[in-house]
Amino acid sequence: MSRIWENDGIYKRIRNDKLRNRITTPEKAVDFIKDGMVIGTSGFTLSGYPKAIPLELAKKNMKTYEKVKISLLTGASVGNELDGVLAQTGAITRRYPFQSNSYMRNEINSGTIMYHDIHLGCFPQQVRCGFFGHVDLAIIEAIAITEDGYIIPSTSVGATPTFTDKADAIIVEINTGVPLQLEGIHDIYQPFEPPNCQVIPIIRPEDRIGTHFIPINPEKIKAIVITDAKDNMRSFSQDNLTDKIKEHLVEFLKSEVKRKRLPPNLYPIQSGVGNTANAVMAGLADSDFENMYVYSEVIHDSILDLMEKDKVNTASATSLTFSQKGWKKFYGSEKFIDKIILRPQDVSNNPEIIRRLRCIAINTAIEMDIYGNVNSTHLIGTKMMNGIGGSGDFARNAYLSIFISKSTAKNDCVSCIVPMVSHVDHTEHDVHVIITEHGVADLRGLAPRERAPLIIEKCADPDYRPMLWNYYIRAMRNGNHTPHLMDEALSWHVRYLETGSMKQ
Ligand code: COA
Repeated sequence: MSRIWENDGIYKRIRNDKLRNRITTPEKAVDFIKDGMVIGTSGFTLSGYPKAIPLELAKKNMKTYEKVKISLLTGASVGNELDGVLAQTGAITRRYPFQSNSYMRNEINSGTIMYHDIHLGCFPQQVRCGFFGHVDLAIIEAIAITEDGYIIPSTSVGATPTFTDKADAIIVEINTGVPLQLEGIHDIYQPFEPPNCQVIPIIRPEDRIGTHFIPINPEKIKAIVITDAKDNMRSFSQDNLTDKIKEHLVEFLKSEVKRKRLPPNLYPIQSGVGNTANAVMAGLADSDFENMYVYSEVIHDSILDLMEKDKVNTASATSLTFSQKGWKKFYGSEKFIDKIILRPQDVSNNPEIIRRLRCIAINTAIEMDIYGNVNSTHLIGTKMMNGIGGSGDFARNAYLSIFISKSTAKNDCVSCIVPMVSHVDHTEHDVHVIITEHGVADLRGLAPRERAPLIIEKCADPDYRPMLWNYYIRAMRNGNHTPHLMDEALSWHVRYLETGSMKQ
């Protein structure tokens, strides 16, 4: 620890004299965690989550038969040093509201961990209202503590202001590996409670309405741990298919501008998580669109590329989710920091603001059906992948709600266009446009019987089109507004489970 004191200037990191006395080791800090606690931590999409204390809890649990078990609440997905190690060491009974860790996923799917995935924009209010019980402890990664004892978060904000407000006690992990350069990027605003709720005064994506720190009662900080552990980021991949999807997206947006349904610089863009979303956003960097705005949940590598090319004026989100390459680029230039605002997730994903700004939402689907219902979360109807995340917050309230996906998965053994989705996250009412590598289905204003032929012809893989037509034509004989063969609607999924392929 002395190295950190000398080299990193801990006085710059912990500016409150009294709180510097609370610096301790992870081994001691972990004793604040008791069996049965509800714990809220920082972290959103593998960014800004605590690492030292969860690793310590995992170590402690490995040594004893009587394991400490907690309910874990975060902003969204967090890295292996939190979700992974705690899932592996039996430390978690309940998990909310989003995850993307393979160990966590396994425990959830085996029924060991009770998981409820929740709209990320709604989650903080539900925590404040006690939907998940009383929050005992908040464990927060921060870059610094101010003179007044307030917390300056690290690379994400997420639900941290809610956790620090509701928890009885707070442990802070000061991460000296995250440069103080980030100070000022955050904009912390917390809504009032009814009947005094105010309009959230964001009129433009670049509006700042809060403070650059999280105001807290400093007496709640019981321990401070110093770390320099890096976020466990993933890198993104692109291929021919994502290239095709991005070409279709750009052409579609251009045609909307031509028809005067979008302004030349588009409306603020939200883009989802994962390989497909990141790759598709990269398409906008090569397009002619300029002076764009991002009002989203995460800022990933491709948005950085857009800013580098001066195509995006401001990007507002709740988390920075860069690959290692992206972080190098971010810290290597001063041009990004003033263009980015990080807000709490109940502001970044707030329906009121999304609707007011007329956001264009671009989210990724696992599968979509011939009527435009979307499954974003469950593989073959039963197996949790990640969660709905913020896709529902944006899709329902967006000016234009676009869902993208490759047309097939698992070496073409799975069609991502199916007769009926095996789980519904986004109903047909929240899905305006579907894009795959084969084309664009613009569903706006279309009845189910008009949607199905369009989705089959424009978006489905050619190998699966005859099967989809066969299903749809026979279903039509039964009549009704949304034709289906109820005994066959999920037969493609059943066939995949039985034979390893949806193909007949
Ligand atoms: N059936 C079975 N498996 C499927 C599938 C389907 N219909 N569609 C995709 N998959 C599998 C892929 O094969 C891949 O498996 P692998 O990890 O074993 O290789 C995995 O799902 C991920 O697919 P990939 O093509 O790499 O997608 P992605 O990284 O773009 O992620 C989602 C796609 C849907 C999983 C991801 O976007 C997500 O979790 N979305 C929900 C949350 C969300 O939208 N948040 C955004 C709000 S800001």
